[in-house]
Amino acid sequence: MQFAGLALTVILSLSPIYATPLLTTSSTLSKRIPVTDCLDVLVFDSPGFQNASDASQTIASVEAFAFLKDLDTDELRQSTVNALNSIGFNPGEDAIDTAVDRLKLFAAVGVPRVTVTVEAEGCSETPKLTATALEDLGETTSLASFGTCAAPATNGGAEITLTVNGSDFSSARIFPSGPDGFGVISDIDDTVKISHSLDTLQLVQATLFDEPAPIPGMPEVYASLARSLNSPQFIYVSGSPYQLYPFLRDFIDTTFSASNGPLFLTNVTVTDLNVLFQTLTADDGNATLVYKIGQLTRIHEMYPGKSFLTVGDSTQQDPETYATIYNTFGGDFVRCIWIHLVEGADNSDERFKTAFEGVPQERIRLYTDDQIPELAYVDVAGGQC
Ligand SMILES: *[C@@H]1O[C@H](CO)[C@@H](O)[C@H](O)[C@H]1NC(C)=O
Ligand SMILES: *[C@@H]1O[C@H](CO)[C@@H](O)[C@H](O)[C@H]1NC(C)=O
Ligand SMILES: *[C@@H]1O[C@H](CO)[C@@H](O)[C@H](O)[C@H]1NC(C)=O
Ligand SMILES: *[C@@H]1O[C@H](CO)[C@@H](O)[C@H](O)[C@H]1NC(C)=O
Repeated sequence: MQFAGLALTVILSLSPIYATPLLTTSSTLSKRIPVTDCLDVLVFDSPGFQNASDASQTIASVEAFAFLKDLDTDELRQSTVNALNSIGFNPGEDAIDTAVDRLKLFAAVGVPRVTVTVEAEGCSETPKLTATALEDLGETTSLASFGTCAAPATNGGAEITLTVNGSDFSSARIFPSGPDGFGVISDIDDTVKISHSLDTLQLVQATLFDEPAPIPGMPEVYASLARSLNSPQFIYVSGSPYQLYPFLRDFIDTTFSASNGPLFLTNVTVTDLNVLFQTLTADDGNATLVYKIGQLTRIHEMYPGKSFLTVGDSTQQDPETYATIYNTFGGDFVRCIWIHLVEGADNSDERFKTAFEGVPQERIRLYTDDQIPELAYVDVAGGQC
């Protein structure tokens, strides 16, 4: 796929509500310092969709997080070392550097209520967004209308590139897609990426130190779906925290380039990294279930007329999540549910019998590692699952 990128410029400005407290707390900050010199903004990739009352208009619910530019990672480094030591890791300096780099957004000091103006070259409107605190991400319901764009929201539509001025995270994109056709909603950890969610030590190793690696065969399966489902909207919905966004986005960008799409991650605010390690493992109660049901409901609001193939695994509660969405929005919205059976997870008949109550058997596919190559031959467009 060849994409025509549209450049967008993001202009930052402080709202008056915020300006007074920040600028008076530090005597070294001059009121004349341009906002872009002290603030960084992370704008997340977003799905774009058509305005229901005017199909020529592209809308996106764009999330943005603003934070103080100079990240102080000394404290983060020390708490990372402490947390790793406490679970038996004694990594060398290079490994710590990698871990701190991946975790660096945990050191970010969020600045709420920053107004972000998104200028879209090729789009007729320049919406204003409010960057939120990290813990409010995911709740954003304010929609940004880009008006009419050179790359309209149609199936197989081009990516729209956002250039964030003055930010280290200098690019964000809108993935526009039309109201019908197919989409793919996919989990990340242990569905497309080797994460070892069931084992804290291996999970920490995979998340903080290793080069991220795909579940073998999955990039090819998704590339095949991108063709057979005629450029479906791919959306990755994961229980991983927003702080890992730069790391995970880079992984999807490079390893799943044929099935690229926005990532919806979870709101986790942790001060203790040991708590983070627990949060990342499968045993998080119903937090991820509740979060994912909320995100899939948000996707339904954007694309009520699309049919989604939903892909997850048996480590967390993807079967329960996708079945709930099937039972809520029906079989036209959730076309198929594919679940990767991970060794060591609860793969019992009873679990799936309970989880999939109300979902017809022929809509469900449970697959092992060995069966991944066969997935590319399932005729989802023709009605198979
Ligand atoms: C994020 O976490 C905070 C604190 O745990 C919670 O109050 C808030 O509702 C959460 N937001 C979302 C979108 O889940
Ligand atoms: C959708 O388009 C209508 C008609 O142009 C407009 O009034 C409305 O504000 C648009 N919706 C959004 C969310 O921009
Ligand atoms: C980016 O911001 C800098 C400093 O505020 C400004 O001088 C420059 O013109 C901006 N660039 C664009 C493309 O808006
Ligand atoms: C988890 O969610 C399921 C389904 O909504 C519910 O039946 C169960 O009681 C919940 N468990 C906990 C521990 O909240």
